[in-house]
Amino acid sequence: MTSTMTPNLQLTPDGRLRHLLTLDGLPKRILTEVLDTAQSFVSVGERDVKKVPLLRGKAVFNVFFENSTRTRTTFEIAAKRLSADVVNLNVNASSQSKGETLLDTVSNLSAMLADMFVVRHSAAGAAHLIAHHVAPHIHVINAGDGRSAHPTQGLLDMFTIRHYKGDFHNLRVAIVGDVLHSRVARSQIHALTTLGCPEVRVIAPRTLLPRDVSGMGVHVFNRLEEGLKDVDVVMMLRLQNERMQGARLPSAGEYYKHWGLTPEKLKYARPDAIVMHPGPMNRGVEIDSAVADGGQSVILPQVTYGIAVRMAVMSLVAGANP
Ligand code: CP
Repeated sequence: MTSTMTPNLQLTPDGRLRHLLTLDGLPKRILTEVLDTAQSFVSVGERDVKKVPLLRGKAVFNVFFENSTRTRTTFEIAAKRLSADVVNLNVNASSQSKGETLLDTVSNLSAMLADMFVVRHSAAGAAHLIAHHVAPHIHVINAGDGRSAHPTQGLLDMFTIRHYKGDFHNLRVAIVGDVLHSRVARSQIHALTTLGCPEVRVIAPRTLLPRDVSGMGVHVFNRLEEGLKDVDVVMMLRLQNERMQGARLPSAGEYYKHWGLTPEKLKYARPDAIVMHPGPMNRGVEIDSAVADGGQSVILPQVTYGIAVRMAVMSLVAGANP
């Protein structure tokens, strides 16, 4: 699949967000605008009537070519809270199975007067391709493309960090695990460095580090204990068995022994460190249940904040500011 990774495709000529495809190259002012807008939407979720009329009359199409629990559902909730009409395309039951191309599917959904596409695809660049293809009034949000980017996950992670830690300027943040296959890690690194986090660490076995890691502005550690020392935030990653081609690790048991986050290993971090995970978790592989369900875990709040962050992204791309 071809793509043009031009961040400018994401912005209108006057610098507003038009599509959200990647956090790579997006200015700090846009990331901060999303976080501030999301903050204003948190209270909507606390009301009896959890709705605002910002996207009334707009049609949002959730088009997920890969499985999802959190992202698809929170996009649907977010769109409904903005009063949009939401259509969830069941890709397995769609004409894709008869050989229809991605762009033909998108053209047909556009003919049904779609205003916004939320797209997840296993191929890197799928959302960019769609953004190039659609009419100017249609907005595209990348809900995860291959190993490339998961921008709303990166943004909801930043929202969660800002909520618990105030700001980014004195933080040490560790991203732990399968960075090589992780679109989440790429989006997190772009967001953290753009928002001014002075020390982003990546902790992973050498076989699960991307070749270009040295150019990402991160500090690399291969031992978990060393990398966790005095960090404020621990962001665990899922071991992505489905994206591994060839054995890169001895076994899940070996992985847990060296890189699994246990209560003992977590003690190397600051006592007030928070633990995050984008989900889905492999308990007993990258994270111990005692940590996942423990007092330092903010894994479920991440999911809840995902609704407000996705409301913010959808309203901003549509130019419907609260
Ligand atoms: N974090 C995340 O993308 O989860 P889902 O695959 O369930 O959407």
